Amino acid sequence: MSVSAGGDNPIFEQFKKIGIIPVVVLDDAKDAEPLAKALVEGGLPCAEVTFRTDAAAEAIGIMSKRSELLVGAGTVLTPEQVDKAVAAGAKFIVSPGLNPRVVKHCLEKGVPITPGTQTPSEMEQALELGLNVVKFFPAEPAGGLAMIKAVAAPYTHLRFMPTGGVNAKNVRDYLAYDKILACGGSWMVKKDLIKAGEWDKLTALVREAADIVKEIRG
Ligand code: 3PG
Repeated sequence: MSVSAGGDNPIFEQFKKIGIIPVVVLDDAKDAEPLAKALVEGGLPCAEVTFRTDAAAEAIGIMSKRSELLVGAGTVLTPEQVDKAVAAGAKFIVSPGLNPRVVKHCLEKGVPITPGTQTPSEMEQALELGLNVVKFFPAEPAGGLAMIKAVAAPYTHLRFMPTGGVNAKNVRDYLAYDKILACGGSWMVKKDLIKAGEWDKLTALVREAADIVKEIRG
């Protein structure tokens, strides 16, 4: 049986369950293992490792060794980066915008993709390509929850992953809306904490975020 890379992929069920997808920027792959441990121990067993640094592919490889952690790649801009990410072990792809070449490549490879969208036209393009989960990016500057509620009305099957400006204060409101599959954010995996090796502090922030998911979604 073939598994669709579109919106009914089981990975999206995992997104829903986890609720908050940590968006990670790693400058040094040596931080990948302690970060993976902090995410698992804190209760958000997932990471979107962004292709903004040269360490991304190696970090995905290291983190993917933990079977309890769902690891994907973010900031994926080209089909070549999709291949690199998947070869390293990425189970899902996230992109800041909707690039049809990247989306089609993911669909051909059977890898779930959540492309960034902001406008109804971009959302329709995603639907046209066979997706029904999109990232809403950058969520807060683009109108936040009010904008998502307004655009969600005509697209009854579309589910959203708001990312960009989501934080511990506003995430409850997003999570409480049933068209939100999960939220993406970096506030619990702050770059300065990673750089300083402050794993206990980071684990506490991850736990706080995981507790919010439990509070809102049970
Ligand atoms: C990003 O572009 O880094 C992600 O969208 C995360 O945004 P955030 O840092 O505002 O959570």
